[in-house]
Amino acid sequence: MNQLSGTQAEIDAYLKAQEEKDLLRFITCGSVDDGKSTFIGRLLWDSKLLFEDQLATLTAESKRIGTQNGEIDYALLLDGLQAEREQGITIDVAYRFFATDKRKFIVADTPGHEQYTRNMVTGASTADLAVILIDARKGVLIQTQRHSYLTSLLGIRKIVLAVNKMDLVDYGEAVFEKIRKDYVKFAEQLGFTDITAIPVSALKGDNMIGESANMPWYKGPSVLSHLETVNVREEEAERPFRLPVQWVNRPNLDFRGFSGTIAGGTVRVGDGVVEPASGQTSKVARIVTFDGDRQEAVTGQAVTLTLEDEIDISRGNILSGLQNRPANADQFEAKLVWMHSDPLLPGRNYLIKLATGTTAAKISSLKYKVNVNTLEHTATKTLELNEIGICNLALDKALTFDPYTENHTTGSFILVDRFSNATVAAGTIDFALRRADNIHWQSVDIHKEARAEQKGQKASVLWFTGLSGSGKSTIANLVEKKLHSMGKHTYLLDGDNVRHGLNKDLGFTDADRVENIRRVGETARLMVDAGLITLVSFISPFRSERQMARSLLEEGEFLEVFVDTPLEICEQRDIKGLYKKARAGEIKNFTGISSDYEQPENAEIIIDGAKTAPEEAADQIIRTLQDRGMI
Ligand code: ADX
Repeated sequence: MNQLSGTQAEIDAYLKAQEEKDLLRFITCGSVDDGKSTFIGRLLWDSKLLFEDQLATLTAESKRIGTQNGEIDYALLLDGLQAEREQGITIDVAYRFFATDKRKFIVADTPGHEQYTRNMVTGASTADLAVILIDARKGVLIQTQRHSYLTSLLGIRKIVLAVNKMDLVDYGEAVFEKIRKDYVKFAEQLGFTDITAIPVSALKGDNMIGESANMPWYKGPSVLSHLETVNVREEEAERPFRLPVQWVNRPNLDFRGFSGTIAGGTVRVGDGVVEPASGQTSKVARIVTFDGDRQEAVTGQAVTLTLEDEIDISRGNILSGLQNRPANADQFEAKLVWMHSDPLLPGRNYLIKLATGTTAAKISSLKYKVNVNTLEHTATKTLELNEIGICNLALDKALTFDPYTENHTTGSFILVDRFSNATVAAGTIDFALRRADNIHWQSVDIHKEARAEQKGQKASVLWFTGLSGSGKSTIANLVEKKLHSMGKHTYLLDGDNVRHGLNKDLGFTDADRVENIRRVGETARLMVDAGLITLVSFISPFRSERQMARSLLEEGEFLEVFVDTPLEICEQRDIKGLYKKARAGEIKNFTGISSDYEQPENAEIIIDGAKTAPEEAADQIIRTLQDRGMI
């Protein structure tokens, strides 16, 4: 018997060391008030899973900061974070691992409050079972519903309903029965396959490890004996085979193996396999592991497969069995848990990391968000920290995946901000959208080069960015006049003008600005395709979207022109009187005042808007175009 607590790396090491023993991962949901920490502490204590030195510390700390009048305070066993002890709440996910003769366990202990939804989702994402704690005096609460919803969202199907503090309701059977019935009724819509309700007193130890003399009417298992015997692995080996390829192992010319951890099902030597993105098939020649070759391997095992045929597979591909192949698509519907304090911007390009594959993705439509307490759906344009929404995602290229209900590994993903590298969301895939299946690229015979050549020019985009009143539209207008008089074919897309037509549905929230620039970036791309020298004059305050617009074009076609005029000068000029209004609070989200402007870091052309007259600036730009051979 042993018990540890620690980091992901330690968990991995621990798992390796005890690979033969069956593992149960579970999460405990509830708040400090429900006695969650006491519950976990009691489990560890009564099953004698503590080390001597921990016992000594616990006894000492119970006297010092315990809440049980100097008696042992089991809640203190959860070393958690200092802040938890001081404020009486848990603020992070703490993993604790322990083992009995029958099984080993990893328990994720996560905070119960709504502002910690993301922590709970993190802790629950790998769990096989959830223990939902209820205070017997209070019954099923809003937070019980929230925890249950999140649990079901993450695909956990087995629930232990621990009705705690039974000692405070005189161990009454009727109290327990009512709570059990209320819960089962509420949970009908959540798709759980097994709800085991157990009346306990974590503080006194009733029904935690053994039977309780105080509740002879209860005939079911104790918490620990249920956790030791509940069957959670029954279908895993039967699921369709999936091997996300982490790397291609090619030590010499005679050996080419595909390495990774099996994410679903069973594979045997001789089985047919397919790489779904290309449709190439072969048969398994060898299954190589650290301990030598095997005839068969199952979910969770790290293997290297060699195949009978040379097929082209790289990192990020998923090998599958021939039956029940995963989807390979560039659009799908998913549930997103927003995990960052910056809200979701639907038009923005994020990086999606799915199994071993990565590409750019945006939220193509945000259908609704879910009130995690009442499960109600509401329309929304964004998701804030800890909010959950249902949306469609559009990826830059197709990836291979499964619905989350079929495979948690190949059906879940994270979104990462491309600039800060922060994880902004976690998601679970509902299903692939097949709408792209029937839309193909139509080939055309006249291309961009032909169109531009006919006009005697090279197509390009001059992207002007800068504050309102910085002078970008004035300069862009002069540059266009000069190009026009040189016989060039041009078009000027100006923010104020485009916002009267194509983008008249958009305002000035961050999300609307992102969408504004996404549309104008796409429009500029079409104009370049038409062979035009395209001038774009938009504040375009965010680096991410300017980068997106750049990425739609070829190298050398996109020139960023930063009209760098200090805010004070723009405000002094105040040609449209908007700064005055913004200062008076009459315009919300005004760039430079109540909304961010992210300065370009690598603009090809920088105009010092304070010192340079528009005429001079226009000449500077024309000269740059000539120097670069663009006109
Ligand atoms: S962007 O930020 O989405 O790129 P865009 O260039 O289309 O902005 O539009 C900016 C113009 O809209 C400004 O020049 C100004 O005339 C007007 N405007 C109205 N409200 C705002 C606001 N809140 N912030 C900035 N510009 C605004």
